[in-house]
Amino acid sequence: MSNRLQPPHYNDLDAILPTAWDLLTQGARDRTSDFHILHLATISADGIPNNRSIVLQDFDVQSRTILFHTDSRSEKAAEIFERPHVAIHAYSRSEKVQLRMQCRANFHHCDVVTGAAWRTMHDMSRQCYKQVEAPGAPIPAPSPGALQAEDDGESQPYENFAVVMATIQKLEWLYLSAAGHRRALFDWRHGELQKTWLAV
Ligand SMILES: Cc1cc2nc3c(=O)[nH]c(=O)nc-3n(C[C@H](O)[C@H](O)[C@H](O)COP(=O)(O)O)c2cc1C
Repeated sequence: MSNRLQPPHYNDLDAILPTAWDLLTQGARDRTSDFHILHLATISADGIPNNRSIVLQDFDVQSRTILFHTDSRSEKAAEIFERPHVAIHAYSRSEKVQLRMQCRANFHHCDVVTGAAWRTMHDMSRQCYKQVEAPGAPIPAPSPGALQAEDDGESQPYENFAVVMATIQKLEWLYLSAAGHRRALFDWRHGELQKTWLAV
């Protein structure tokens, strides 16, 4: 059942993707967007799922690519390197939309992609990569003002910086509505886009 208060995509499969792309584009630009923080799932070496929040830095509609920054020494970096198929999740309460995305990730380290990102980054953001210990390494106690303390003015944290570009191969869209939820699937895994409504 539909009514005139529903958005255009409520009953129109072709209207869904443009709104999903708008949400991700907005998420990259606007810190206050619910889509600014995404949730990334990887598989560990022992086959256990692992998830965590990431900041959406950029989204390219044409290539369906989500870009985020990370530390090259992190657990997720190793997991992506080992198994480049990752899942990314996002939900907006205000938009009443959930996006579940299966992606193939490309890991960039000390290359033209990381170089370009590094040059445009704020100093504050670069500080995150100055830590001597690898992220997740056990330490006896947290050091006060660790980020500043590690900055000896000479260390070059660029080597610790990585960029991940995750291309969406499959996207499942869920829209919540009191008039009846809507669920749809978009799949690029076999070349041509395949799309269908799904039972909720
Ligand atoms: C709101 C928020 C945003 C975050 N953004 C990032 C990010 O963009 N990149 C990143 O590597 N970690 C980010 N983190 C930290 C990760 O969620 C995670 O705790 C950390 O990277 C270690 O993950 P790993 O051990 O699985 O590699 C963020 C955490 C929060 C709470």
